[in-house]
Amino acid sequence: MSDKTQSIHGAWSSRFAFILAATGSAVGLGNIWKFPYITGQNGGGAFVMVYLFCVAAIGVPIMIAEIMLGRRGRQNPINTMQSLAVEAGADPRWQYMGWLGMVGGFLILGYYSVIAGWSMAYIVKSFTGQFFSSDAGDIKALFDDLMASPIQQIFWHTVFMLATMQVVMRGVQGGLEKSVRFLMPALFFLLLILVAYAMSSGGYEQGIEFLFNPDFSKIDADAVLTAMGHAFFTLSLGMGAIMVYGSYLPGHVSIAKTTFYIAGADTIVALLAGIAIFPLVFANHLEAAAGPGLIFQTLPLAFGHMGGGWLFGLLFFVLLFFAALTSSISIIEPAVAWLVENKDLQRREACLWAGGACWALGVAVVFSFNIWSEHKWFDKNLFELLDYLTANLMLPLGGLAIAVFAGWKMKPAHAEQELELPPQGFQAWQFLIRYVAPTSVFLVFLHVLGVL
Ligand code: TRP
Repeated sequence: MSDKTQSIHGAWSSRFAFILAATGSAVGLGNIWKFPYITGQNGGGAFVMVYLFCVAAIGVPIMIAEIMLGRRGRQNPINTMQSLAVEAGADPRWQYMGWLGMVGGFLILGYYSVIAGWSMAYIVKSFTGQFFSSDAGDIKALFDDLMASPIQQIFWHTVFMLATMQVVMRGVQGGLEKSVRFLMPALFFLLLILVAYAMSSGGYEQGIEFLFNPDFSKIDADAVLTAMGHAFFTLSLGMGAIMVYGSYLPGHVSIAKTTFYIAGADTIVALLAGIAIFPLVFANHLEAAAGPGLIFQTLPLAFGHMGGGWLFGLLFFVLLFFAALTSSISIIEPAVAWLVENKDLQRREACLWAGGACWALGVAVVFSFNIWSEHKWFDKNLFELLDYLTANLMLPLGGLAIAVFAGWKMKPAHAEQELELPPQGFQAWQFLIRYVAPTSVFLVFLHVLGVL
């Protein structure tokens, strides 16, 4: 347990509150929007298996480590790494890891907010009955219209950024905690309804087969990297978000147990989203590899045909908005905590600066779907580039640093003291964090570079 009992930003009111907030951070667009579309692009079952392996063998131990570092440091990620490095007698340059995270958060929120804006646009589309009795072609046209309109996307992106800043301004207990309590269970329930619909859609068996029958010939090094990167992304790891949340965690809470709940809930939501979406893809002869528009081109078909679909559609996109919001606040929190602690800003001003910067980047991301879609770097438009850079490179790199620091640099006695695990549990974690997680990340990187 830490000596310092509390961060200057406040603390969670209970362990349950922390679980809710961390689950809120983990469950978001990553589970419902990204997981299905990258699974579709990477051939299904084999990709899902690699992803599940990465969550269990790399994600879980690193999450335990990241929360632990946060709770011990009790500051923003940069200062936390700095003071923990001093405590461990390690190089003070470990603080750069905190910097990497802060830049990563800025880059992620720049596009995350745009996609969250799409889901807000779809709230209105459900409400006004635009999915009613439509076929796959109509639904695709709706999505293409949205993509072609910078004005609409910028409008919703702006609304979403404002909502994020509003919640973050209110701080730990007021803003972050309250929003998650009812929303997560409600989202879960709606996903179950969608799964039930998918079962009756005629494509159920094909969908399940696609998701769970692995054909390893369908994946290459880049697919493995995407699966690994997504394990970090979906658990909010590798950039200090969960570290900051950990810094608000009361001292007596079991970090390992908490991590299992969060990772378990996160995985179930992603799999349910996949089970709801792929049957629709096959029943309607859509393309599994359709890309970022996948959920927007499939789920409205279900809403347009089921009884009361406008209401379910409305609820679904409202909940997706909230799921995105409880994630976006965690993406921006490290930067806000840093501005408050080190730049002496009020929380309010800090939110305005950090939020304003992400907003501006988001506008450029909107253009990458229309007027700038021809501008490419490494064959990727701005959205794809940011996604690749953050999820596939920066997060695993940040995670690698966390694993090396927690496993090798920090005094084992300190880690043991924080984690309070039974001896076998601690040894298992130590083995994963010292050997399995870092070598896996390293090997995947080498593989992608073509060295291996
Ligand atoms: N995990 C969230 C999702 O799946 C996104 C997210 C929130 C995130 N905080 C993060 C991703 C920190 C990377 C780092 O939608």
